[in-house]
Amino acid sequence: GAATDLAGRHVVVSAGGTREPLDPVRFLGNRSSGKQGYALARTAAARGARVTLVAANSALPDPAGVDVVRVGSAVELREAVLRAAADADAVVMAAAVADFRPAVYATGKIKKKDGQEPEPLALVRNPDILAELSAARLRAGQVVAGFAAETDDVLAHGRAKLAAKGCDLLVVNEVGESKTFGAEENEAVVLGADGTETPVPYGPKEALADTVWDLIAARLPAGGSP
Ligand code: C5P
Repeated sequence: GAATDLAGRHVVVSAGGTREPLDPVRFLGNRSSGKQGYALARTAAARGARVTLVAANSALPDPAGVDVVRVGSAVELREAVLRAAADADAVVMAAAVADFRPAVYATGKIKKKDGQEPEPLALVRNPDILAELSAARLRAGQVVAGFAAETDDVLAHGRAKLAAKGCDLLVVNEVGESKTFGAEENEAVVLGADGTETPVPYGPKEALADTVWDLIAARLPAGGSP
């Protein structure tokens, strides 16, 4: 698309990986670096959008010209994304959101007790933010996109996930071994709810980001944020 095809638009991108606290010093986390989400934020800003980046525990520096909201857990990420999405033309969920969190948060550091086995760790489900955004459509015409990392049968699992989440676009990539996490490059297929399939060859995360914005821009109704 044109260099300023997102001018007048507000877009929200989530990035990084959530940390689900067990106690003040410990958490359950994942290996997401935030690079793909940050690339999405940078490329949207370069194309003229006002960008809110909801960043979960990323070590990356704030991109210039982007509003960055830093969060920790999935519950915090949900609050920040829903708030920012209220007037957004598009939302891209690139963050790795934990499916589960510890059922109990200990306000003091959990201690080992001499001669005693550890307690089993009870978990509860986190809200599915992508599914919630897709169902709610907080603004008329809002385009909602997500990411899915799959290890096998990538397209079939991707199609099923797209339908389950109810989003407009799902970027599906194959993960495993050293693939994707922390890497500078990515390879993916972008599935559309309209049945489209856009393969993106192995290359910089910026290139995949631009393809995602191309597909989103094509789905946006005319006009933009007031
Ligand atoms: O279900 P799965 O975790 O594979 O889906 C990945 C997609 O769903 C990503 O876009 C991720 O940001 C989003 N997600 C979410 N809330 C969750 C889990 C995943 O929004 N609790």
